[in-house]
Amino acid sequence: MKIDGTHYRSIWPHKDGDWVEIIDQTRLPYEFGVLALSTMEDAAHAIRVMQVRGAPLIGATAAYGMALAMRADPSDANLSEALAVLGATRPTAVNLRWALEAMRGLLMPLKPGDRADAAWIRAGAICDEDVEINHSIGRNGLALIREIAERKNGRVNLLTHCNAGWLATVDWGTATAPMYLAHEEGIDIHVWVDETRPRNQGALTAWELGHHGVPHTYITDNAGGHLMQHGDVDMVITGTDRVAANGDVANKIGTYLKALAARDNGVPFYIALPSPTIDWTVANGADIPIEERNASEVETIQGRGTNGALASVTVTPPGSRAANPAFDVTPARLVTGLITERGVATASQDGLRKLFPA
Ligand code: MRU
Repeated sequence: MKIDGTHYRSIWPHKDGDWVEIIDQTRLPYEFGVLALSTMEDAAHAIRVMQVRGAPLIGATAAYGMALAMRADPSDANLSEALAVLGATRPTAVNLRWALEAMRGLLMPLKPGDRADAAWIRAGAICDEDVEINHSIGRNGLALIREIAERKNGRVNLLTHCNAGWLATVDWGTATAPMYLAHEEGIDIHVWVDETRPRNQGALTAWELGHHGVPHTYITDNAGGHLMQHGDVDMVITGTDRVAANGDVANKIGTYLKALAARDNGVPFYIALPSPTIDWTVANGADIPIEERNASEVETIQGRGTNGALASVTVTPPGSRAANPAFDVTPARLVTGLITERGVATASQDGLRKLFPA
């Protein structure tokens, strides 16, 4: 997607081929900065501290992390070490495991001398595939938005939670791809963007949408139910970090409450996902590991101070404890449909299997 007229993906290999570059998402939306990842440890660190984030981008970064590890030392021992280090960075997004398994399957049978080039090519292919997949998700989600626009004959109000935008993928985004295509097609859309405390990924979504001229409004996490009650939301679309085989969906903390409010108000609630986000090994959402992040993310808020510098202020009183579960699970029964690259599935084992029989 474009920033000030220049097309960027969220991760790309440097043209000399020795390292990869990312957009440092810990500095957005205030500063646009590019960071080089030169080692596997750099890639692991970037995932851990959320310089890159969002399930598909975590997977793509891990794939390049493996390629960087193989450049440094293609031995069996280093291959296993890199898989272990990268695999332990974040627990919920299954795209991480998916990408590492793809790399393991490719690299293990190869002679060490052949591993670095093969890994580099495969990591690039994972990125290219992600872009194609998201574009297809966009086309499938666009049909749903178009339908609402035709029925309503007026502005379509969408609501999204967290950032499932191009910053969370390699390009396009999952939840945002239909929005970008609808906007490009000339459909009058407006997006309610949940702030998404504590990391405020909504600010990333607002930043993205703003750069593409998509009308949007930034709201507190608790505003969605009120807006739905007043008929101001036509459709919710979010992303996901892992979909269980029965269609239960793990996504950023607060997604479940939006789904409940949507059900109570008859608002369609869609989840957009690429197929690598489906975890066929997990029968239902109760078995999805939920990341518990540092309480300091809840105790403080980051932003730009009046002097223009990035600042962090404490919001909790001394002595109060904070908890920080980073994801929750929305039961399949609350999900209207799963927008995938192959079409829109019902949120159930049957629905998923119809689109992904293998
Ligand atoms: O903690 P984050 O910022 O990595 O969480 C991101 C989300 O929850 C996204 O909604 C999800 O990964 C889907 S991204 C297409």
